[in-house]
Formats: sequence, C-alpha cells, structure tokens
Amino acid sequence: MPFKTVAVVGAAGSLGRPIVQALLAAGFKVTAVARESSTSTYPEGVEVRKADLRSVESLTKAFAGQDVVIMTPPNTESGNQILFVDAAVAAGVKRFLPAEWGHNTRPGKLSGPMADMLSDKTKTVDYLIEQAKQHPNFTWTGIATRMFLDWCLANYNIFGINFPAKTAMIIDSGNALTPTSSLPFVAQSVVAVLQREGQTANRYIDVVEHHVSQNQLVRLIEEEAAVKLAVTHTTSKEVARIRDEKMAKGDWTAFIEELQVFGLSDGVDRWVKEEEIANAELGLQARDIREIIREFVKSQSA
Ligand SMILES: NC(=O)c1ccc[n+]([C@@H]2O[C@H](COP(=O)([O-])OP(=O)(O)OC[C@H]3O[C@@H](n4cnc5c(N)ncnc54)[C@H](OP(=O)(O)O)[C@@H]3O)[C@@H](O)[C@H]2O)c1
Repeated sequence: MPFKTVAVVGAAGSLGRPIVQALLAAGFKVTAVARESSTSTYPEGVEVRKADLRSVESLTKAFAGQDVVIMTPPNTESGNQILFVDAAVAAGVKRFLPAEWGHNTRPGKLSGPMADMLSDKTKTVDYLIEQAKQHPNFTWTGIATRMFLDWCLANYNIFGINFPAKTAMIIDSGNALTPTSSLPFVAQSVVAVLQREGQTANRYIDVVEHHVSQNQLVRLIEEEAAVKLAVTHTTSKEVARIRDEKMAKGDWTAFIEELQVFGLSDGVDRWVKEEEIANAELGLQARDIREIIREFVKSQSA
C-alpha cells in the first residue's frame, strides 16, 4: 500500500519547511508534530499536533494513523531520536526517516571528531535496524545528503564565505571538492523515497547533487552577484586548532570548524561515485549549480 499520511517533527525548520512543501505538492497528507510551546506556522492543509517531545506516550498519540514519520528537528535533538522510534513502533508507523541529512554516519564512513559529534545519529540508525528486525511492518530509510549547499552558504560561513561582509576565507588550496545537496534537492529525495516504498525499505541511501570547491563557489558568487569577495587564506591545521580549542571549552560551535576540516581540507578524496548514490534510482535531477547560487544571492539581497 502506498504511503499517504506523513508526520514531520521539526516541520517549521530550515529543512522541515521544504520537505513539507514537497510532500504537499506530491499529494501526501502532512501532519506537523510540534512542541507544546511551539508558535510555528504551517502552509494550508497541514494538520498540527502538539506533543511532549520527551514522552513516548505523548508521541505515540501524535503518530497515530501516520504511515511515515520524518525527523527534521535541530541537530542538538538528534540524541533523543530513540524515543521517537519507540513511539513510531507503538503507533504502528510503517516507515521512519531519521534525522540523518548530512554526512554518511554508517560505521567506517566517519573519522576523527566528526564520528563522535554524529554518534547519536549512528546509534539511531543502529537502533532502527534492530527495531525493523523485531517488527516486520516497521521499516526505515536513512538519507545522507552531505552538506546543504544553500544552507551552508547562508549560515555560519561554513564554506568560509561571508556574503554580507563580501569575504571568503579559503582553507588550504580551496580546490578540494566536497559533495553537497541543496534543500529543494533533499526535499525531492524524501518524496522519491516515499514514492518507492518497496525498494527503499530498510536502506541507507546516499544522494549528492553537486561536488564543489571553495574556489568554484567564490567564482560563481562573484559572477552572479557582480561583486568581488575579499579573499584571505588559512590552513586546515589552523582551523583544526580553533576547533580543538573550542572543544576543550565545551563550545558546540566547534562543529563548524570540524565541518570545514572534514569537508574542505586538501588531501582527502571525497568524491562520491555514481554507483554509490541513489540519484538515478530515485529519478533525481540536479539543478544547475549556477541556478542554486543565483537563488542564494537573491535570498541575501531580499
Ligand atoms: N547537511 C547540512 O548541511 C545540514 C544543515 C542544517 C541542518 N542539517 C540537519 O537537518 C536536520 C534539521 O535541522 P534544521 O537546521 O532544519 O533544524 P531547525 O531549523 O533548527 O529546526 C527547527 C524545527 O525543529 C523543531 N524543534 C523540535 N525540537 C526542538 C528544540 N528542542 N529546539 C528547537 N526546535 C525544535 C521546531 O518546531 P516547533 O518549534 O514548531 O516545535 C522547528 O520546526 C538536522 O538533522 C540537522 O543535522 C543538515
């Protein structure tokens, strides 16, 4: 039976919003499961159920009648996903999409501090694998998208580019290619997964829209915005030093420097091969990268 009803946790967030839009456009019935304190608003047609996000009982009620649960709460909440899984199983949910949405967190795919920083995500997928074995009607799909190109350009200068200040800090050579996906592409991947419920059950899937380097991004932004960015240079060693200093102080923003070291430093082959990604299987079309940058530039001047 095709999936019809989809509950989204974090439906008003940066990722939740485009996913909800894409689900509505594809004809799914969407329910936003929000915190009791939430004041978020949603597009027409979205049912809202408030719940205590720390209570399996409350979440089980909120998930009643839902075929699918999609997790898009903030990264800081990824450690609490186990109770959402328990609630989904108890409510008879058929498919659970955990809050992956980034680097592939399967064992052996991460290294260094990133493995520790994303360990809650890894544990959630391990737990889902076990739960699916015990409950044959319960299935899961994990989607690794790598860095969100548009979001990472607009937030925390993750690509080293500070568009409002018109600066770019290049790490090492700036030529390292890193895999990325834009938010609309990620949202399309979710719809495509749910429309292929049989073939996507109990699988961890990689999707990648573009491999891109910092130097390419600087050039594209300069061309699309008709500006010159003031470029400075640093090394991944120096970025790692700042990361370690922050980690020693328990400062969560060390994650930003780790994203930069993990994703942008020289000397690592990050190319995700065609046969490792599910783009073709899911019928996903990459948008022209220039179009993504144009949209980013436009959003910055709005
Ligand atoms: N790959 C990448 O580059 C990248 C970038 C960003 C995010 N991500 C991933 O995408 C996922 C979603 O992140 P996001 O940035 O979209 O999240 P976000 O914008 O911070 O999400 C906010 C949403 O989460 C809900 N929420 C539930 N519990 C919350 C809590 N304790 N505090 C604040 N909000 C809470 C809020 O709903 P209510 O207030 O309505 O309850 C709101 O709808 C995460 O798994 C994150 O790791 C990946």
